[in-house]
Amino acid sequence: MKKIVLVTGVSRNMGLGFETARQLSALGYTVVITARDIDKVTLLAADAGLIAKTLDVTSESSIDKLVSQFSEQFGKLDVLINNAGGFFDQGGAAASTDMTFVKDAFDLNVLGAWRTIKAFKSLLEKSESGRIVNVSSGAGSFTDPVFGMANHAGNVPAYAITKLALNGLTVKFAKELKETKIKINSVCPGFVATYPGTEAWGARPVTEGVKGIVWAATLPDDGPSGGFFRDGKSLNW
Ligand SMILES: NC(=O)c1ccc[n+]([C@@H]2O[C@H](COP(=O)([O-])OP(=O)(O)OC[C@H]3O[C@@H](n4cnc5c(N)ncnc54)[C@H](OP(=O)(O)O)[C@@H]3O)[C@@H](O)[C@H]2O)c1
Repeated sequence: MKKIVLVTGVSRNMGLGFETARQLSALGYTVVITARDIDKVTLLAADAGLIAKTLDVTSESSIDKLVSQFSEQFGKLDVLINNAGGFFDQGGAAASTDMTFVKDAFDLNVLGAWRTIKAFKSLLEKSESGRIVNVSSGAGSFTDPVFGMANHAGNVPAYAITKLALNGLTVKFAKELKETKIKINSVCPGFVATYPGTEAWGARPVTEGVKGIVWAATLPDDGPSGGFFRDGKSLNW
């Protein structure tokens, strides 16, 4: 049976999730792409020979429904890409941020991945080589010279702190999964042109940005777990 991949947050053809799905599909994986809006994801899947399903990562019942579908259809999960994310509060300030915005950002960027990993853990354990990739950001790094917590010109306080917490989740799960075949890592794709006009600000092509995600999704059995990477190279926390 082919390896099965689940990618969350795939509603746009310019997004990292869709390109990750396309590259993994080209490598021979069976790829399930998911989004809140079934119409959007169905359209994308049809164009690229992928499977479309509904998933809202802020809803436990939505996740549980998808787990049941995977159990029946595939009986396992080989690769989970926690790509769904957002709440990029460019130019924000921690001192004036609306706390509802912060709560919603955590609900999506941290708890979304946490719920999904928890719910799919037993199906990942059925894989010969389970891999989890948490799509993080240099904004959640303390020391990244351009995007890091103390250096980011745009500040993005809520976004950065959720990605910092997501990296913590990676470390905790790596510790708990140490005796299993599952590897989990955080990956920063770099600044990627997933929205029109961002190339002019220095964003790189999506095809380049997803390479590190695909690398972490396809790690060999002696590959790392519990790390933070960009383009397959270690990033400082
Ligand atoms: N682009 C960059 O430069 C960059 C850099 C570092 C990290 N990242 C990370 O990369 C990931 C993908 O970002 P992107 O740039 O490709 O932008 P994007 O296309 O906007 O990706 C975010 C996706 O998350 C989905 N989403 C939002 N709420 C959701 C929910 N409750 N359940 C499921 N899906 C939900 C969105 O779908 P809806 O249409 O339903 O809202 C969208 O498809 C994010 O985690 C982002 O933080 C991006």
